[in-house]
Amino acid sequence: MADSPWYQDAVIYQIYPQSFQDTNGDGIGDLPGITRRLDYLQYLGVDALWLCPIFESPFTDAGYDVSDYMRIAPRYGTLGDLKRLIREAHRRGIRILLDMVFGHTSDQHRWFRESSRFRRNPCSNRYLWSAAEFGGGKWVWNNEGRHEMYYASWNVSQVDLNYGFRRLAKGNGNSPRDPGVRALYRDCRRIVAYWLGQGVDGFRCDAAGFVGYKACGNDGRLPRLFWRSIRKVADKFGDRVLMSEEWDRPVEAVNEWGFHLSFSLLAGNLKGLLSFGKPGKGRFRGDPLAFDRAFASQSSGVRRKDHGLVLFTSNHDSGRLADCSGGCDALTALGFLLVLTQNAVPKIYMGDELGMRYDSAAPSHEGSGARAGNRTPMPWTSGRNAGFSTAAAPKLYLPVTKGYQRRNVGIQLGHPGSLLEEVRGMIACRRRHPSLRTRAEKITLHARKNDPVYAYGRRCDDDTTVVAVNLSGRPARAVVSLRGLTGGRAALVRQLLPRCREGLEVRHASAAELGRFPLSLGPYSYQVLEVASL
Ligand code: GLC
Ligand code: CA
Repeated sequence: MADSPWYQDAVIYQIYPQSFQDTNGDGIGDLPGITRRLDYLQYLGVDALWLCPIFESPFTDAGYDVSDYMRIAPRYGTLGDLKRLIREAHRRGIRILLDMVFGHTSDQHRWFRESSRFRRNPCSNRYLWSAAEFGGGKWVWNNEGRHEMYYASWNVSQVDLNYGFRRLAKGNGNSPRDPGVRALYRDCRRIVAYWLGQGVDGFRCDAAGFVGYKACGNDGRLPRLFWRSIRKVADKFGDRVLMSEEWDRPVEAVNEWGFHLSFSLLAGNLKGLLSFGKPGKGRFRGDPLAFDRAFASQSSGVRRKDHGLVLFTSNHDSGRLADCSGGCDALTALGFLLVLTQNAVPKIYMGDELGMRYDSAAPSHEGSGARAGNRTPMPWTSGRNAGFSTAAAPKLYLPVTKGYQRRNVGIQLGHPGSLLEEVRGMIACRRRHPSLRTRAEKITLHARKNDPVYAYGRRCDDDTTVVAVNLSGRPARAVVSLRGLTGGRAALVRQLLPRCREGLEVRHASAAELGRFPLSLGPYSYQVLEVASL
């Protein structure tokens, strides 16, 4: 599809910078570390990297508490390091997305220090201030200076910004027209323009629905106003992307708020599907049909062709893909295939391609709480600190996950049959076949409650493929009709994946045979077929 924008066809890879690769021996991953590993990312075949926040921060929430949006936290490196990363990534055809946290700032941000002063100043209305609690959520008394409460959706050190919420007192900026609120919009636009000007390809936008909405009854009016104004800035630079983290209203985010892409909770449903097939679970009791319908109803709600939803393997906040499959690589691979072949933009969380598991031994760090288990260092080698860092073990950002000697990049790379190579093969297949990409049509072929076989066709111009998985640990069969895919004509059916050593299996099927096409799938196995009508 020549006319689809790059982000529609992209496979996005999420990096938790502090845990990816340390290069200066301080135990914390850094920007030069990402640059060093670009060859690996290119080998894997991903098109864009989203880096979790790299801005200055006191790190009470691992950087989601920004104290200066215009500066890179020294522990990650310098602006020069970022520019070098961008340059080197672009050279390999990889784009760089930063994480923009506009729902709240750190209480250490200059804006908040000003805002919490007794004496009125240009920042006075920049946050949600009130003398009385209302709505739900957390109101916190300010101890020094201004004698009012501020609102914090997350931690008390992450203060919600005020985009002009109606329920505030008038003097505290209850409209987007308030001069103080307007100044916030303007500053955010400047921040975005600054980073785009440095060559960044776009942003993942944290908590895009504005967290303050719980207290302030935000109805989508303000996210629309605010993000559309940010979109205008992005559009001026051309070819950039805004991707929202908005769980409740993803379709609204892409239809109304100006986002190109939005995350969707459907990824959670998909992970749920896998867990029904976990080894030891007994008979498969998942519901591929429910997933398929939920997915169709969301994706068909997206009005613009160049906008879309994102499906992901996991993220830095909640358990990993391999946890859903109970650590069974073959089942994890099915999860990857489903993420990579639906009509959504796929996003892979670092380490998932190795089958990394949530690490329950990881101690809470920088406000992570239990989320630390998803943030342990990327295992590169079987050597010291898994090749993540040369620092002494106690200095590591988080301890390396036990058993890394058996599961790391060094072991899996180039090793046929490893999860990493399997995922790489899937990404490559997606790249070769326009029908497997985001915007191609999807036709459900087989999806039933309590039935582990899930199959669908994908079609784009002359390219037609079929994806079929067996989510259970027992062999399974289904008979599907491929006739609709070929317009009733006979076809050559060729197996694209998994690749077998003897070469690819090709089969001639008459129109009648296509009408009752048998799919026979071993335990936790899959097939991707190309259907070329004759
Ligand atoms: C998002 C981030 C999470 C962070 C929160 C507050 O949900 O993924 O890590 O704590 O926003 O910014
Ligand atoms: Ca470092």
